[in-house]
Amino acid sequence: MDAKQIEGDLALDQTYIAEADIQARLRELAAEIARDYEGEDLLLVGVLRGAVMVMADLARALDRDVEMDWMAVSSYGSGTTSSGVVRILKDLDSDLTGRHVLIVEDIIDSGLTLSWLTTNLRSRKPASVEICTLLRKPEALKMVVDVKYVGFDIPNAFVVGYGLDYDERYRNLRDIATLAPHVYA
Ligand code: XMP
Ligand code: MG
Repeated sequence: MDAKQIEGDLALDQTYIAEADIQARLRELAAEIARDYEGEDLLLVGVLRGAVMVMADLARALDRDVEMDWMAVSSYGSGTTSSGVVRILKDLDSDLTGRHVLIVEDIIDSGLTLSWLTTNLRSRKPASVEICTLLRKPEALKMVVDVKYVGFDIPNAFVVGYGLDYDERYRNLRDIATLAPHVYA
C-alpha cells in the first residue's frame, strides 16, 4: 500500500514520513550500528508485531552478519495507554548470556514497555542491551529510557503504517501516515 491509498482513505490524514525517507534514515542508523558493533557478535531482538518492517529493512541495510530473534509482549491496561505492567506472550528462543543485544522497536511512546523490556533482558546476563527505535514521541515519555539509536522524533500524534497499526489495519502501508483526528477523537 502506498500514498495513493492514503489519499483515498478517509481515516488517514496525510503522509507523515515517506517510504524513501524511512529507508534513507535506516541506512544511516545501520551504518552507525555496524561501526559501533564492529568485531562483536550482534543479536537483534524485534518486538512483535510493530517492529517487523523496521527489523526487515534495518537488518538488510547492515553490511554484516546478525542474528534475529523475536519477542511478543502485551501491556496490561486500558486500550491505547500502556500501564507499564507487561506480560510476555512470546519469549526469545536465544540465550542472552554474554551476547550484545540490540532491541529493535517501531515506536516509543510513554517508554513504559521498553523500560520494562530492557530491565528484563538485562537480568539475563547479556554483554550489553541497547535500543534502536524508528520513532519516538518525546512529549509522551513518562519514563527515562536510554535509547541509543532513534530514527525520528515525532510530535504526539497517532501514526500508522510501516508496521504500525490502528486496530490491526495499515501495517502494510509503505509510508508512515497520521490518522485523521475524527477516527480517534
Ligand atoms: P509505550 O509503553 O512506549 O508503548 O507507551 C509503545 C507502544 O504503544 C503503541 N503505540 C502506537 N502505535 N501508532 C501506533 O500504531 C502510534 O502512534 C503509537 N503510539 C504508541 C505501539 O504498540 C508501541 O509499541
Ligand atoms: Mg510495538
